[in-house]
Amino acid sequence: MGNDTASEIQYFARAMKAPRIGEAATRLAGQARDAGWTHEEYLAAVLSREVSAREASGAELRIRAAGFPARKSLEEFTFDHQPGLKRDTIAHLGTGVFLTEAKNVVLLGPPGTGKTHLAIGLGIKAAHAGHRVLFATATQWVARLQAAHRADRLPGELERLRRYGLIIVDEVGYIPFEQDAANLFFQLVSSRYEHASLILTSNLPFARWGDVFGDQVVAAAMIDRIVHHAEVITLKGASYRLKNTGINTTSLTNTQNPAE
Ligand SMILES: Nc1ncnc2c1ncn2[C@@H]1O[C@H](COP(=O)(O)OP(=O)(O)OP(=O)(O)O)[C@@H](O)[C@H]1O
Ligand SMILES: [Mg+2]
Repeated sequence: MGNDTASEIQYFARAMKAPRIGEAATRLAGQARDAGWTHEEYLAAVLSREVSAREASGAELRIRAAGFPARKSLEEFTFDHQPGLKRDTIAHLGTGVFLTEAKNVVLLGPPGTGKTHLAIGLGIKAAHAGHRVLFATATQWVARLQAAHRADRLPGELERLRRYGLIIVDEVGYIPFEQDAANLFFQLVSSRYEHASLILTSNLPFARWGDVFGDQVVAAAMIDRIVHHAEVITLKGASYRLKNTGINTTSLTNTQNPAE
C-alpha cells in the first residue's frame, strides 16, 4: 500500500471513529497480498475487525450495567459437582434462544449449589448476545418496585424494565416479603409474561413460595405465569462453598421434599 493511500485510510478511519479499520487495513494488507485475497475478501476482513471490537465493547458495557455481584461464567461451572444437571440443558440456554422466545429460567436448590453462579453465567451470555440485562436480589427488586409505586410511577417503571431482555431475580425465599410486596412482584412477573425473560433463583420449592409472599393466591398466579414457558432446573447436593471442609448442612434444608 502506498504511503499516501495508507495515510488516507488512517484519516478516513479517524473521521468515521472506527480506529480498528485503520489499524486492520495496515496490518492485513501484507497478509492479503501474500495470500492473494480478493479486494472483497480484504475489505470484509478489515470491516469485521471493527465490528467484532464494537460488539465486544457493547457486551462489556451491558455486563457492567447489569449489576452482577461477581463475574461467573458457564465455562467455570463444574458439572461433575452437579451430576443431575445436563450440560446440554445449560449449553442450550447459553445460546440465548430462550430470550428471543421470552421464556424463563428457574434455578432451585439448597445454598451453595450454584444457582447464582449459573444465573450470572447465563446473564453474561445474554449480554454477549446483545440483550440488556439487570441483576438484583428479590429484596432489592421489591424495594425498587415499592419506590416506583410510592412515587406513582410503577407503570412507567415496568414499561422501562420491559426494554431489558433479561431480568434476574436472585434469592427468592431467603427473606419473607412484606404484604404489598407480593402484589408488586406479581405485577413485574405479569408485565414480562410472554414479552421478556426472567431468571429466578430460590432455595425453596414452589409449594413454599406462598409463605414467602404472604399470599397463597397471588403466589399461585405468579408461579403459573413464570412456569408456563420456563426451564425449571433443580440443583442438588452439598454446598460448593463447604467443599473440602467436612461440614454438611444438607439436613438443614430440604427443598427437595415436595411434602414440605
Ligand atoms: N458446580 C460448580 N462449579 C464451580 N463453582 C461452583 C459450582 N457450584 C457453586 N460454585 C461456586 O460456589 C460458590 C457458591 O455458589 P452460588 O453462589 O452460585 O450458590 P447459590 O446456589 O446461589 O447459593 P445461595 O442459595 O446460598 O445463594 C460460588 O463462588 C460459585 O461460583
Ligand atoms: Mg445465591
